[in-house]
Amino acid sequence: MVNIKTPADIEAMRPACRHAADTLVMIEAHIRPGISTDDINDLVHDFTIKAGAIPAPLNYHGFPKSVCTSVNHVVCHGIPTNKVLKDGDIVNVDVTSIIDGWHGDTSKTFYVGEPSIKARKVTEVARKALEIGIAMVRPGITLGDIGHAIQLYVESEKCSVVREYCGHGIGRNFHEEPQVLHFGNAGSGLRLQPGLVFTIEPMVNLGKKSIKLLGDGWTVVTRDKSLSAQFEHTLAVTETGVDILTLPST
Ligand code: MF3
Ligand code: CO
Ligand code: CO
Repeated sequence: MVNIKTPADIEAMRPACRHAADTLVMIEAHIRPGISTDDINDLVHDFTIKAGAIPAPLNYHGFPKSVCTSVNHVVCHGIPTNKVLKDGDIVNVDVTSIIDGWHGDTSKTFYVGEPSIKARKVTEVARKALEIGIAMVRPGITLGDIGHAIQLYVESEKCSVVREYCGHGIGRNFHEEPQVLHFGNAGSGLRLQPGLVFTIEPMVNLGKKSIKLLGDGWTVVTRDKSLSAQFEHTLAVTETGVDILTLPST
């Protein structure tokens, strides 16, 4: 059952969505060689608690930290550690905030210092893949249209789309129906209507699409050790198009 939000529900989601976006703005100013992913976790945790918000990842199905930090060949769900970032790394910071019971979910991949040509390539393809997905969103198209457009673009850039993880409905729950695949067939799947709220969050690998889950039960990495990047927004379908809910306040 896909749940359609009222205009009041969508207004109620804005504070959590804006807070998550503002958290990424705050974090960006701290990303430099020498910072650890634990430092990023602490900054996100404190910023969130000080705002009266809740970091959704903490204890979510047992996740041990307040944010996901996915470095280089880590695709998603990286667990912050005391390992420091070095010049040339890329790191995706995936923030989900809860305010008044509503969730906002957004992520970005950041350059640590000066990116290599490969790091820049995979990151810019992932950034544009999300942009292309968002540009599709309006009533009447299908989820398959979004996935198809993203897949077509990413593969045209000789990169690959991860299949095992997808975007998702979001609201009072972190993850709700529908699943939003970042690949597929035009015209297939759920037809979009105003009030549908979901994320698009394509995971793009520089090499092959195949992934594996590490023994910690969370960390997802590329099988071929190639770099992976991701960007995510929470979106609402409007009468005429799309409302990006996870835009920062400034
Ligand atoms: N934020 C991720 C998403 O975009 C989910 C992370 S689940 C966690 O859907 F437990 F690892 F935080
Ligand atoms: Co998400
Ligand atoms: Co997320």
